Amino acid sequence: MKKAIYPGSFDPFTNGHLDILERSLPFFSEIIILVASSSRKTPLLSPAQRVSLIQQVLAKHLPPEAQSRVRVESWSGLLVDYLRSHQISAIVRGLRAASDFEYEFMMAGMNKRLYPGVETWFMMTAEHLFFVSSSMVKELLLHHGDFSAYVPPPVYEFLMHTYSPSP
Ligand code: COA
Repeated sequence: MKKAIYPGSFDPFTNGHLDILERSLPFFSEIIILVASSSRKTPLLSPAQRVSLIQQVLAKHLPPEAQSRVRVESWSGLLVDYLRSHQISAIVRGLRAASDFEYEFMMAGMNKRLYPGVETWFMMTAEHLFFVSSSMVKELLLHHGDFSAYVPPPVYEFLMHTYSPSP
């Protein structure tokens, strides 16, 4: 049993992310959810907000045994530098559709080139969540659509309370 990191921008953390985390946990002794930044995205939430929301979700949704094996951290550098300095060699990522594959394939390849000891473990997204994404959630928030089915309750409450613009 090894430690793994589950990296992402998690802007915000969705039910899709939670599903991947829950299904990965039996295969690793500890999973560190690493809130990182992607040059492809301008985030809505600060790293501290994302970390805090994920912690609230874990506290609400995971049984105590599972909670003791998950940590949340943020990281502003390269993923491989975090992995090297913490002596972790497994990365967990979720795959939704074929459209995710090319980006994930390139990222896994680059990480492997930068740190040959690393392996990326891909989990297929649950069938009922394949259309969920952080961008869709933000789009629904902006246009007053109902996104309550796609994010855990602490994320929904925070977004509605903080960002929901008046109609
Ligand atoms: N179900 C539903 N949706 C899912 C999902 C699942 N199981 N898994 C991922 N998604 C969605 C997310 O909601 C998100 O949607 P969005 O594109 O609309 O925002 C998208 O798929 C992927 O986002 P996320 O899982 O948060 O990861 P990311 O692709 O934003 O993360 C990093 C990229 C942070 C891991 C990457 O940029 C990184 O490693 N950065 C650190 C710097 C570095 O080392 N860069 C070099 C990498 S080679």
